[in-house]
This record gives sequence, structure tokens and C-alpha cells, in this order.
Amino acid sequence: MNIILLGPPGAGKGTQAQYLCETFRFRQVSTGDMLREAIAAKSELGLQVESILAAGELVTDEIIIGLVLELLETSSGGYLFDGVPRTIAQAEGLRAGGVQIDLVLEFILSDEFIVERLTARRVHPASGRVYHLKFRPPKVVGKDDLTGEPLVHRSDDHEETVLARLGVYREQTLPLIEYFQAAESQGSMRFERISADGSMQEVRTQVEALVRSLGGRGPA
Ligand code: AP5
Repeated sequence: MNIILLGPPGAGKGTQAQYLCETFRFRQVSTGDMLREAIAAKSELGLQVESILAAGELVTDEIIIGLVLELLETSSGGYLFDGVPRTIAQAEGLRAGGVQIDLVLEFILSDEFIVERLTARRVHPASGRVYHLKFRPPKVVGKDDLTGEPLVHRSDDHEETVLARLGVYREQTLPLIEYFQAAESQGSMRFERISADGSMQEVRTQVEALVRSLGGRGPA
């Protein structure tokens, strides 16, 4: 089973993706994480996309489709796509690459919650562990719970860039909703919405119940 988590920045896609991977053993495909790793490694790709991420814009469809299809070549099904596709061209690119989607799960959250969640998010870049100053604070202020290494405030999590990312989401990603609803009406996949304004555990319960009801599981 392959699932897409769709929703605005900060809706909790990454948080729920980690839970789903723990419970059902899906493989998470996060293009945001892949791009940040390339930036940290100062690779050619990283240098090419660094300013795009910092501005909250989207990286080109060609780069994203190439990255994802290259990753999928090395393993089989049971994917959880977190933050991809973000445009109709990306969805078409995955389809053309033979990726069959079973479920699209849209996270619904108001802008007010989004700004609160992102401006107080802190991350441990090496592991991808995600904290929140109010909702999931680290045991020691500013330090990762497991390594004690410093946490960082993502450069695109400052309010001005969060608002820019929301604009980009509305303009370039929202058209995917109609696209997936049309695919559902043709019977090729399921499209479901969940309210993402509850606690992390409340959203987790909702998401896991839905995936379980569809017989969801990751790779064998
Ligand atoms: P990406 O990393 O994918 O960012 P995003 O989609 O904007 O999503 P976020 O990681 O910001 O949020 P999330 O929904 O995962 O929330 P989280 O669980 O962390 O992309 C970054 C950039 O890369 C893009 O802007 C673009 O430039 C580029 N890019 C990536 N993919 C691309 C693509 N396909 N095409 C083109 N460009 C691409 O939660 C947020 C915070 O809230 C955390 O602190 C968390 O602890 C907290 N939280 C989570 N759930 C709850 C809850 N229920 N209650 C309270 N707090 C909560």
C-alpha cells in the first residue's frame, strides 16, 4: 500500500509519518528531508536548491521527480509520501514512473495553528527528530533528547517565510485536491480528509484507524 500525506506546511505530516512508519512499517519518502540533507552535504543539488528552500518556494518538478524515482528504484512498495507530490506535474511524473497510489490523506489545519506550530518548531538535523517549544518540548532547552546536540530553528520556519510557503501551497499544491478527487471518482484510489487540529496523539489515533480500516501495511 502506498499513501500520500497532503497538507499545508506545519500540518503535522512529518510527525504522523513517523508514527505510521513505527506502527505499520511504511517507508517514509520526504522530499523536504532529502533536499535538506543535500544542502547539509553541500552537494551540487544542495547548492542548487538552498536559496529556493530558504525563500519557501518550490524546487522544480524535474528535480523532485528524478529524486523520488531514483529512490524507488532501490526498494519495493509500502511508501508513505510526505510532502510529495506538491504539483500536478509531480503527481503525473510519479504515475508515469509506475507508482500506484492507494490513499491520499489530506490534513486540514487553519493558518493560525500553522504559524504557531512552525515558528516554535525546533529540529535535530542529524536525526530528523522534531520538537515544539510548547507541544513537544525537549527535556533540556535547546538540546536533542538523545544526543544532547543543539536543536535548530529551520530557516524557513520564520513567520514571514511560513506565510510565503502558505501562499505557495494555495497556488501550486491545492489544485492537487481536485486532481485526486477525480482519481477517486474513477475508482483508482481513496481520498480522505482529516482534521489536524487535535493533539498529536488524537490525530495519530484518527490516522491509524483510517489506515488500518483500509488494510494498510508497509513492506512485508
Ligand atoms: P518540507 O520539509 O516538506 O516542508 P512542509 O511540507 O512545508 O512541511 P513541514 O515539514 O514544514 O511540516 P509538517 O506538516 O511535516 O509538520 P511537522 O510534523 O513537522 O519542505 C520544505 C521545503 O522543501 C519546501 O518549502 C520546498 O522548498 C522544498 N520541497 C520539499 N518537497 C518538495 C516538492 N515535492 N516539490 C517542490 N519543493 C519541495 O509539525 C510541525 C510542528 O508542529 C512540529 O514542531 C511538531 O512537533 C508540531 N506538531 C505536529 N503535530 C502537532 C499536533 N497535532 N499538535 C501540536 N503540535 C503539533
